[in-house]
Amino acid sequence: MAENRNDLVRQIAELKRSRKAVILAHYYTTPDVQAVADFLGDSLALSVQAQSVDAEVILFAGVHFMAETAKVLCPDKRVLIPCPEAGCSLAESCDARDFEAFKAKYPGHTVVSYVNTTVGVKALTDICCTSSNALQVVESIPREQPIIFAPDRNLGSYIQKLTGRDNMVIWDGACHVHEEFSLEKILELKRLHPQARVVAHPECKAPVIAVADFVGSTAAILNFCGQDPALEFIVVTEPGILAEMKRRYPHKSFIPAPPIDSTCGCNDCRYMKMVTLENIARCLERLEPEVVIDEETRRRAERSIRNMINGRIDR
Ligand code: 13P
Ligand code: SF4
Repeated sequence: MAENRNDLVRQIAELKRSRKAVILAHYYTTPDVQAVADFLGDSLALSVQAQSVDAEVILFAGVHFMAETAKVLCPDKRVLIPCPEAGCSLAESCDARDFEAFKAKYPGHTVVSYVNTTVGVKALTDICCTSSNALQVVESIPREQPIIFAPDRNLGSYIQKLTGRDNMVIWDGACHVHEEFSLEKILELKRLHPQARVVAHPECKAPVIAVADFVGSTAAILNFCGQDPALEFIVVTEPGILAEMKRRYPHKSFIPAPPIDSTCGCNDCRYMKMVTLENIARCLERLEPEVVIDEETRRRAERSIRNMINGRIDR
């Protein structure tokens, strides 16, 4: 295994060629990992991209549910996950068996699940959504139709508020990163930087969302920072996104919002940071670990993801 960073980057480039592989990476991975990616995006863009990649092998530099989504959409491709232990506290807050029992309590409800779920939960879902399209997905369902929304209570409550729908039952799950931002520290940053705009992910708690100038998915936040005339932004989402912000808008400055309990002032997703150049190189070399899903579960999960991509439930 190559030892220094440049050797690893060269080795990965060579392995991508010899293995006919592409690397898809989420914005929350480290800047080193982002630099070796062929496609960088938010969860929606990466799901859409996975369907159309012209390669035999997809290496997913992100967390487990994202690699599973790629495998569901591309059953004939080999989908590699460099660190299978990279889970997601939000996906883990919704166990498929518990969710099945929950669903049984609400017959006749349409199930909308965030893509941050296991394939088992997606198989129990009518239509998936991401933070980019949650509002459109919920609005595509007739207003009188009751909904189960899972698993993020903050995104669910945010969408409920935007749509005014009181017929939504929300699963009580959350992301450890977005729940942890400190409202007090954000207000203090606003005092120190009065010209700065606050941009927040909808997985944050309601009081944090209430002080944000803009709320959106990682891709929507990136676009907003480009379009808005402000030169300074307080960024209330995982700080991996700052690398892309600085690349796109070098003349603007971005201040990561700190969590409640922090000495370092940053709020990393520990799972996303488990993906490294070392485990990417090893994974491409060995062509494992690979994502494997049983066909029945894959087929049922595929329907809910395809419904999301098509923007409506195909009955
Ligand atoms: P996006 O849908 O914005 O990519 O968010 C993914 C995620 O994991 C948020 O915590
Ligand atoms: Fe999951 Fe939160 Fe990490 Fe996103 S930031 S992958 S929701 S734990």
